[in-house]
Amino acid sequence: MILVVHNQKGGVGKTTTALHLAAALAMGGQTACLIDADAQGNATQGLGLDPRPAVAEWILEGQWEPVTARTRLDVLPGGPTAQRWWETAGQDVVAERFRQIPLTYDWIVVDTAPAHSTWIAGLLRVAHGIIVPVDLSFYSLAGVADVLGRVPPGRLIGLLPVRYDLRTRRSIEMLDALKRIAGARVAPPIRQCVDLDRAAQAGRTIWEWAPHATAAEDYLTCVEWMVTHIAETRHPAGRR
Ligand SMILES: Nc1ncnc2c1ncn2[C@@H]1O[C@H](COP(=O)(O)OP(=O)(O)OP(=O)(O)O)[C@@H](O)[C@H]1O
Ligand SMILES: [Mg+2]
Repeated sequence: MILVVHNQKGGVGKTTTALHLAAALAMGGQTACLIDADAQGNATQGLGLDPRPAVAEWILEGQWEPVTARTRLDVLPGGPTAQRWWETAGQDVVAERFRQIPLTYDWIVVDTAPAHSTWIAGLLRVAHGIIVPVDLSFYSLAGVADVLGRVPPGRLIGLLPVRYDLRTRRSIEMLDALKRIAGARVAPPIRQCVDLDRAAQAGRTIWEWAPHATAAEDYLTCVEWMVTHIAETRHPAGRR
């Protein structure tokens, strides 16, 4: 299964979500590869590895060289590259590269950049399921229709509210507003949790860094919810 985590808006929790979904699936006994399809290389850093443009090399030259990050969890690192034009790779090239990935993984989880591009459109097309993290702010909610308009039909698994703060009326209002837009497609929220940023700085997952933090519980609930809902999302063209 190929899962793509995307929102064109920046800083809404895409990397944090992609990394923790992949890590949770691996912890649960499945094999996963996290593709860091963002030249910022944050997903790579978040697992304590050095960013390098392995994704660009894969797209440009077909070199598939993931590194082992944890038990059952590989990462294809992202990082800055002089060859920025890899991000304009045609959708057919993207689809072909994904077809060539060895069939050794149960899950491929893709972190994306905060942008619109043919490359990202290609990623959304190869996805079997798409997760859209949304932080509970006015601007983020205002952009939801835009991102949903770019998700190919039938591929949305869900919108994932992040930085939910039960103590603030605003957060509750924003979650209600999101539910009015997307109804049952709204996943259980990830609460505001400062340990996520500390864990990222340490190059650790939340389960490694602060196993009793709220996000440790919330991301496990999120994976359960996602696996339950993905069956409804699977499209017949999928190879996994
Ligand atoms: N639930 C949360 N509570 C508190 N902080 C969070 C939460 N989720 C993510 N963050 C923090 O918010 C910041 C942005 O998160 P992240 O990097 O995952 O967003 P992004 O959408 O990938 O950003 P970009 O668009 O730049 O790629 C990070 O510092 C991260 O640690
Ligand atoms: Mg990111």
